[in-house]
This record gives sequence, C-alpha cells and structure tokens, in this order.
Amino acid sequence: MRRVESARSDITDEIPLAKRTSPSIQARSGSVRFLALSLILLGALVIALPLGFFPRYRGATLFFGLLQLPTSEGRLLGHYPYLEASSDDLISVYPGLQIHKDTYKALKSMRSAATADGINLILLSGYRSIELQRQIFYGRKSSRSQIAIERAKVSAPPGYSEHSTGYAIDLGDGSMRATDLEVEFESTPAFKWLKKYAAKYHFVLSFPKGNPQKVSYEPWHWRFEGTVDALRQFEPSNEKRRVLEPMD
Ligand code: DAL
Ligand code: ZN
Repeated sequence: MRRVESARSDITDEIPLAKRTSPSIQARSGSVRFLALSLILLGALVIALPLGFFPRYRGATLFFGLLQLPTSEGRLLGHYPYLEASSDDLISVYPGLQIHKDTYKALKSMRSAATADGINLILLSGYRSIELQRQIFYGRKSSRSQIAIERAKVSAPPGYSEHSTGYAIDLGDGSMRATDLEVEFESTPAFKWLKKYAAKYHFVLSFPKGNPQKVSYEPWHWRFEGTVDALRQFEPSNEKRRVLEPMD
C-alpha cells in the first residue's frame, strides 16, 4: 500500500506544478483529515447541545428553538404545535397555577385597570405542561366516547395547546362564576371590558366565533402577544388569520 502511494507520489512529483489538475497526495490527505475532524466536531456539537451537555446557552437555545418552531403545515386537528415554556420563565400566581412571567406582568396591569373600572377579572387557568394536556386530551373526554376530531374542538392535543407556552390564560368574571369556561361568559361585564381593552395589554382572543382553526368559540381564552417570542410562537395562527381577514 505504502509502495503504491509512494509510486503515485513519484508520478505526480514528475508533473510540473503548474500542469497538475489535482493537489498532491500529501495536501489531499491533510484536507481529508481536516474535513473528517470538522465533521466529527460538528456531529458531537449537534448531539451534545440538545442533550444538555452544556449549560443553558442562549445561542444554542435560540438555535434549537428556531429548529423546533411551528410551521403552518404542522397543524394537528386545527391546532398548531407549541414549545413548552421553560420553568425559568414561569411564575407561580397561586398554588397549582403558573403563567409566563411576561404574561404575568401584562395581566397584573390589565387586572388593575379592570378593577379600577369595577370589573373583577379572575384567572382560571394558565400554563399546562404537555403531560397535563395529554391527560386532558386522552382522559376525561375520551372516556365520554368522543373521537379525537370532536375532542379537538374543545381541547388541543398534547404539544399543540397554547396553554403549554405560558402565554395563554382562561379568564372569568368574579361576579358571575356560573359562566366560568362557558360560552355565557360572553355576556358578562368582564368579557365586554376585555373586548374593549385587552388589546391595550397585548391580549388577543385566541378562538373567536368562526375562527379559521375551527376550534369551538372560547370567549374566556386569551393569549398574550406582547413580546417577540410570544409573537413568533403564534405567527402560524396569526398568518392564517391574516390570509382570511386581509387588511385593506
Ligand atoms: N381549550 C384550548 C383549545 C386548549 O386546550 O388549548
Ligand atoms: Zn384556555
């Protein structure tokens, strides 16, 4: 083998440098080694980063976050895929109820404004882990003998709920608790107030009547869109709305 290599090198060495169409064997094996080493390093990086071998590194998180971003083609039964909020970003409002810290700040301001107008906004639900969403989607409703398409009109499949982002909240009216999580919530003073002022605090009604995702009307379910991260998560849903409701 070594003899063949040295014979080949003798031949190439006889060709004048300017007429050679390929680099010398030595130069070529050097670049092959460099390429192999780079590939190994790149492979190790691609495997190590998502496995969390490195401490949470913003650039890496952003990079892999971008790879996992939902696309409008990734819908499941009308719902879009969402990233689960990181525990670092969640704030406990009361035992058993967490929301994203940015949602919390905006909700606090919105509640104060509502209270000043005599409205008692109640926070009924916030962040849900994908595991909890799994229990909701495959638990109660499926035992009522509903098929997935019917279930998806009222709850999203695990990994596809806005609640997993920490940006979605369910709101009630403290003076009309019987309307909690019911369509009748739309006739409460709280809902009327929200319709008028929620946008000021960057809250949007996720599932209005006749929404393009074909999810049941949920007047109580609002999502926070007051940061670029939140907007990026809800872009596929907003994109669909923009197509159906073109602005002129
Ligand atoms: N109720 C809404 C659709 C959810 O489960 O995320
Ligand atoms: Zn909800």
